[in-house]
Amino acid sequence: MDFRHQPTTLAGVASVNADALLVVLVGSKVPSELPPPLVKALQAALKQGDLALDGGRSLYLGSLPGVKAPRVAFAVAADASARAVKAALSQGLAQLKGLGGRQLAVWLAGAGALTEAHAEAVATAGGDAVYLYRHTKPSAPAASKLARITLLCTRADEAAVSYGLKRGSAIVAGVTLAREIANRPGNHCTPTQLAEHAQELARTMKLKAEVLGRKEIEKLGMGAFLAVAQGSEEPPRFIVLRYDGAAAHDAPVVLVGKGITFDTGGISIKPAAEMDEMKFDMGGAASVLGTLRAVAQMKARVNLVGLIPACENMPSGRAVKPGDVVRSLSGRTVEILNTDAEGRLILCDALAYAERFKPRVVIDIATLTGACVIALGHHRSGLFTPHDALAEALARAGDAALDPCWRMPVDAEYDEALKSNFADMANVGPRAGGAITAAMFLKRFTDKLRWAHLDIAGTAWKSGAQKGATGRPVGLLTHYVLAQAEGGSA
Ligand code: BES
Ligand code: MN
Ligand code: ZN
Repeated sequence: MDFRHQPTTLAGVASVNADALLVVLVGSKVPSELPPPLVKALQAALKQGDLALDGGRSLYLGSLPGVKAPRVAFAVAADASARAVKAALSQGLAQLKGLGGRQLAVWLAGAGALTEAHAEAVATAGGDAVYLYRHTKPSAPAASKLARITLLCTRADEAAVSYGLKRGSAIVAGVTLAREIANRPGNHCTPTQLAEHAQELARTMKLKAEVLGRKEIEKLGMGAFLAVAQGSEEPPRFIVLRYDGAAAHDAPVVLVGKGITFDTGGISIKPAAEMDEMKFDMGGAASVLGTLRAVAQMKARVNLVGLIPACENMPSGRAVKPGDVVRSLSGRTVEILNTDAEGRLILCDALAYAERFKPRVVIDIATLTGACVIALGHHRSGLFTPHDALAEALARAGDAALDPCWRMPVDAEYDEALKSNFADMANVGPRAGGAITAAMFLKRFTDKLRWAHLDIAGTAWKSGAQKGATGRPVGLLTHYVLAQAEGGSA
């Protein structure tokens, strides 16, 4: 989709050339920045009880006398925040869904000066509204005809709006890629196919890609990763992607994404209910690919590395068993007490591998624990790091992207749960605090790194009628990496 801006006067809003006009009404009063034909229509709608100025309400009006665009819709935002405006945009876009228009103009009435965040919200709401999974569903409805969204603005707001749309457009491309890859069923997104997506991305965005197979992974000594992979007929892949946007001596940001293309639990097998959703267990990997897509599209002056250990977690005669001890790339041994705690096993070897890039920061992204879903639900991702400035920078990036996270503790006391009589550590602790002990396990492999961990088990996909990948946390990560490119130190 194409996003543009257009400086307009108040009278220009009514005469804008578009197939549809979506007017976001900000606040609980009739905004003064509304041209007369729209004021008239709004007042009639309010009087008839068809619309109220309450956040979340919306109304489709069709054509209006005095307005050139043949379709008009209103959507109400509770306040002028980007969050409220995005929620209103989603409602308004739903009103226009399935109609014929190709070009949509958007006017934010009563929002005051438009910011980058407003413009980005227009782009991301548009991207979310038109994405539809089709790859294995020939009966899916025809793709949306909406091809262009033009945000109307004043001359004074032009620079902010233009940059916000550019960033929003990059995030939409990244989120859409992440959603598409994560939505593909396990038999259509094997480790091999995930690596092919990475190579395809490298071709289109001019990244460097390297894909290691089982032999090379063995040679490196990634015994923890290989223990998870050994139960599957599908060969593992270790994917390395590089975007070089800065000088070669500039230390890179390294993103590590959990790429379990299907998690049965292995010998510690999961119950059948909702096990299909474990095809989303490569959501971290998908978000790494999406972020590389967005950052490369922005041509950001930063070096960015993506690392993805990819395999299936399956039970079989060759599968790793509870009690087995394996040797990780770091040289330390792990007693695998529960084969369903496999994410941390593939990530610990990827974190050890990350050291060779001498990174400025390493962030791993993983659908790691059901316990994180219990702790934080589906709104905020879990953020774990011992570094305060890094925690703040990531939290700020999440807020700015409307893709929020929440910091969780990593106190040394939690680490004791990982003691083992037969290896340097166990891969699980007790049930209580499960998201934290998982983070503590990873933390053991990050002594030489500035590291943060994002547990996206509750945010990477939706269950139920709206089942599907969200593309999170591509927005958060893109904001963070762009801030690094602009000289951020945290
Ligand atoms: N991929 C799962 C985590 C998960 C479960 C995410 C449910 C979203 C919904 C992970 O590999 C896993 O199975 N974790 C176990 C860890 C436990 C065995 C310590 C879990 O959370 O139950
Ligand atoms: Mn598991
Ligand atoms: Zn898993």
